[in-house]
Amino acid sequence: MKPRTLWMQSTSCFICSSIPGPTLLKQMEIRRDMSELLSWSKQDGDPFKSTEQGDGGCSTNDFSIVHGKDLLPAENGEELTKHFLQELLNILLAYIRKSMNRSSKVLDFHHPHQLKEGLEGFSLELPEKPDNLEQLLVDCRNTLKYGVKTAHPRFLNQLSSGLDIIGLAGEWLTSTANTNIFTFEVAPVFILMEEVILKKMQSIIGWSEEEGDGIFCPGGTISNLYSILLARYHYFPKVKTEGMQALPRLALFTSTHSHYSIKKSAAVLGIGTDSVIAVNCDERGKMIPAELESSIMAAKAKGLVPFYVNATAGTTVYGAFDPFTDVANICEKWNLWMHIDAAWGGGLLLSKKHKIRLQGIEKASSVTWNPHKMMGAPLQCSTILVRQKGLLEACNKQCAEYLFQSDKPYDMSYDTGDKTIQCGRHVDVFKLWLMWKAKGSEGFESQINHCLENAEYLYYKLKSRQDFQLVFQSKPEHSNVCFWYMPSRVRNMSTGPDRDRELHSITPKIKAKLMEKGTAMIGYQPLGEKPNFFRCVFSNPATLKQDVDFLLDEIASLGSGL
Ligand SMILES: Cc1ncc(COP(=O)(O)O)c(C=O)c1O
Repeated sequence: MKPRTLWMQSTSCFICSSIPGPTLLKQMEIRRDMSELLSWSKQDGDPFKSTEQGDGGCSTNDFSIVHGKDLLPAENGEELTKHFLQELLNILLAYIRKSMNRSSKVLDFHHPHQLKEGLEGFSLELPEKPDNLEQLLVDCRNTLKYGVKTAHPRFLNQLSSGLDIIGLAGEWLTSTANTNIFTFEVAPVFILMEEVILKKMQSIIGWSEEEGDGIFCPGGTISNLYSILLARYHYFPKVKTEGMQALPRLALFTSTHSHYSIKKSAAVLGIGTDSVIAVNCDERGKMIPAELESSIMAAKAKGLVPFYVNATAGTTVYGAFDPFTDVANICEKWNLWMHIDAAWGGGLLLSKKHKIRLQGIEKASSVTWNPHKMMGAPLQCSTILVRQKGLLEACNKQCAEYLFQSDKPYDMSYDTGDKTIQCGRHVDVFKLWLMWKAKGSEGFESQINHCLENAEYLYYKLKSRQDFQLVFQSKPEHSNVCFWYMPSRVRNMSTGPDRDRELHSITPKIKAKLMEKGTAMIGYQPLGEKPNFFRCVFSNPATLKQDVDFLLDEIASLGSGL
């Protein structure tokens, strides 16, 4: 492929074609002002000008003859670096535009073996000799082409979806800064931003100024792991030095609808999955407090030592919220650590209308809250928030002297890296900080309200249609809506195991057809006794009611003959 083909996706065309005349003039004035601020433009003219138009003295628009080694820090590598990154930007912008265009596919599905065999010059194999920059740009384009457009308004498959442009800008800046957020020494600004955001989240939870600690970590699973680690250390501090021999046979409690990361963490921490006691839920997927209490008593009667309860704010499949005040009262009575896994539901705290669902969260000892889910921050962005100050550090610190020297010339409390179980840590805070600046808390609120409105719209649509059935009848509490598609022959069957068997096989067949067609993506699963059903989740503000209508019609058209 020649560079000219790449330029057909030019950024400038995209920008120009989407902005009307007078606005465009204004934009160009702003651009000129901005370009004066950019060092590139001082030396090289307009940074938005394409290489195809030529900007003098540069023969680098033939990427087929240059390689990675010719980019900075190579001597005289500036010009080429600029053109290469601009070309990459064009590819990314073309992809973003496509992702947000309803008439483009959500995915172009290929089986693993097809991708491995290599498609249209796209090979995953690693070369002995360096590929040229043209090939790398083609590889970048193909990587996106054969991936899934998670920003597409009809990508409804995962709790993390959409593409926040400010968040993306934040991610770019983060990668450009390429630092490690363990010490103030190497990440002074990011460390302070982390403090600001964590404090904000703690105050939203409702903890006082004297309370509250936390850290960003890689995902809700790791946040949940931290919660168990901290609870165990809180009750049995000797475990840090003496290990498992310092412990009695422990028991922890979580609902049958909770995320599997609780069990996984118990396995990782050497507590064992058999020590995780599953507490029954009601029809709506909420933990039943009386069941929790009887499970605690039963565990104690067996000689186990209960120490931790996980309650969920927004369960993964049903989007249910456990009764936090009741759970907190039980934890207080039995002296247990109460964790709230608000990985998915935490965002609702930003909505005046919906935060009622998290009533009682301030009573928790720790909270998992993933801004990369409902708040739409690019992956990854997750926090563990802890009510008791100092516990994170006491539990995890090792005082490595090559990093955390005690005689540094600044306030060492800002070297937060020893609070974590990691050494190096990716900067996940900046994109969220920038998004918060761009939207204000209000912006998050309206985004979240919008997603929940979509869920309610879908709920009423499903209720009104004969060919669909809700998995449970009550209105959604979060943006999860669970349903079956019922082809007419199944609709006429009486409820029971035969009908369940049919539904169990029909749902994945429709999903496969949807993937093949590439017009929408939605997840499915069985749960308990329930046969495979669809779970639709809304976290992408780009999704509109028309997409909900489209989804139902598409499922019906693909499933009617099954
Ligand atoms: C309730 C809940 N907790 C935790 C997690 C795990 O989060 P992550 O995927 O960021 O590890 C999920 C993921 O879906 C979840 O739904």
